[in-house]
Amino acid sequence: MATVKKLGGTVGAEVQGVGLDQLLSDESLPAWCLKVLEENGALVFRGLYIDDEIQRAFSQKLNEVDGAPSGEPPPIFRVTLDPTMSASAEYLKGAFFWHIDGASDDIPSKATLLSAHVLSESGGETEFASCYAAYDDLSDEEKERYGLLRVVHTFERSQLLVKPDASDEERAAWRERRPDKVHPLVWRHRTGHCSLVLGVSALRVEGMDLEEGQALLAELLERSTRPEHVYRHEWGLGDLVIWDNRGVLHRAAPYDPSSGRDMHRTSLVGDEPIQ
Ligand code: OGA
Ligand code: MN
Repeated sequence: MATVKKLGGTVGAEVQGVGLDQLLSDESLPAWCLKVLEENGALVFRGLYIDDEIQRAFSQKLNEVDGAPSGEPPPIFRVTLDPTMSASAEYLKGAFFWHIDGASDDIPSKATLLSAHVLSESGGETEFASCYAAYDDLSDEEKERYGLLRVVHTFERSQLLVKPDASDEERAAWRERRPDKVHPLVWRHRTGHCSLVLGVSALRVEGMDLEEGQALLAELLERSTRPEHVYRHEWGLGDLVIWDNRGVLHRAAPYDPSSGRDMHRTSLVGDEPIQ
């Protein structure tokens, strides 16, 4: 029987007692997983060794998978910094900074599944922090004040941190790839819970002086990601981690781009706009 063991104070839990065979055959597992995912922010399945076919099939049991043309198997996205393995290797360095996947999309993905195929010798841990705990930690007065703020998110900001000397053409291409998006700072979820929408994509606060807004965003991110709020996953080969992309920030600890680290990702289509 599947059981859940908490790993961190406010985020992260390990699922035990689920083997490869149950993953696809246990009909009650997907709904149970989504429930415990919402409760824990990130779920760790150690040493499952799923292949791409199983990852696709299990992802589809959880929800519609992002990027799947109808009737075709959903894509597996290779998360690697090796340009010979992925055309996106360069921009994936943005994952070294705290972020929500697709924060500059209309509706960010609901959850992400990442399975470990090749590990780096050092670094490459993935860290998670709860955006719900970040909100709960605010004082009542802050909750009231920040509840009114709106924040401009840009893909360009994370890319500029990776490549500060980018040309005007590159910057224009990033903006075209992912146009800016304005989100409320406080996300009022359908469940009634509130979370903070922060991360590297958050560029400025609307109606606030640029520097003042950036200082506020930096302070809130620092408070939300203090070590006591973070679960740091030290990957073992074959691990599968699922995170609730609506409720956690995550980042990868730096690793050598030539290490061969290779993770396979599927993203579940989002069903809740940030509002
Ligand atoms: C991602 C991501 C972190 C990692 O795939 O969206 O942020 O540790 N990955 O590779
Ligand atoms: Mn990510």
